Amino acid sequence: MSVRRLAEDSVQPAAFAFNRENTAWAKQTIKKYPKGREQSAVIPLLMRAQEQDGWVTKAAIEHVAVMLDMPLIRVLEVATFYTQFQLKPVGTRAHIQVCGTTPCMLRGAEDLKKVCQHRIHHEPFHTNESGTLSWEEVECLGACVNAPMIMVFKDTYEDLTPERLEEIIDAFEAGKGDTITPGPQIDRYFSAPEGGATTLIEGNGAAKPKRAAKAADAAAVPAASAAKQDEAPAKAVSLEDKNRPAAIDKPAVVDDLELISGVGPKIAGILHELGIYTFAQVAGWKKAEREWVDGYLNFKGRIERDDWVKQAKALAKGGEAEYIKVFGKKPR
Ligand code: FES
Repeated sequence: MSVRRLAEDSVQPAAFAFNRENTAWAKQTIKKYPKGREQSAVIPLLMRAQEQDGWVTKAAIEHVAVMLDMPLIRVLEVATFYTQFQLKPVGTRAHIQVCGTTPCMLRGAEDLKKVCQHRIHHEPFHTNESGTLSWEEVECLGACVNAPMIMVFKDTYEDLTPERLEEIIDAFEAGKGDTITPGPQIDRYFSAPEGGATTLIEGNGAAKPKRAAKAADAAAVPAASAAKQDEAPAKAVSLEDKNRPAAIDKPAVVDDLELISGVGPKIAGILHELGIYTFAQVAGWKKAEREWVDGYLNFKGRIERDDWVKQAKALAKGGEAEYIKVFGKKPR
């Protein structure tokens, strides 16, 4: 945990003022609070000041104190308490906050810190040579279930590996941070189980967990993930096998196979490599074909349990609307 102090005077600007748009926004924001409680706007106003200038300057803290008629020390207390406020200039394209609290630490936060040290600067709060990137270690950011994770500005990037963090850093360094989708960076929907739902998936109120709490089922994850867990390698599955589903050339319009629960970006990519591009193809798989794909993906029966065929039939017939009609919920 770092000591949070204001930046040295040498880097502090002499004055701060919200620009015209932010001034109007600040006035509206203050009005949202009851009379006499306007000071509750301190956090949004400090955040807006940070978004405007890239960090929270001493002059901005003084400005907010005047706007809210607050003692300066009270605004200082807020600004120096929350790690969301940057008290020194940070990278212009990204300031990476690496969570180092226990769940993230146990799941690899140290390796993420090493990436930041290697790619940005050995010390936190120092920018890289071009001034575009900086990093720090922070305490729990509330996404422990998807540890390890980082936060950049207001977005979190979760379920990280050092390699994925390198890719995210590359994107921000190139000014293309918006090409990375925040949230889990693996086949996981928000904080749901990796690979898709495991409970209450029958949609009839009498649902029972499809994935029994058996050791074998605990290992029912995509091949790529299974490999991470030191499982026995999958049995070799021949691409020449007669039960391999028929491939087609890539059509002009490719269905979004990720709408099928259990299919994430990685699995969708593998299916495309196999020449599977449409819901109609999946919907038409016979038992032997399903077993071949299941074996190829090392899914251990997952395709049957998640009933890909039923899902694909609904999606092929009427897209999301039909899926909702059949399953009582949106796909994925
Ligand atoms: S411990 Fe890292 S987000 Fe909670």
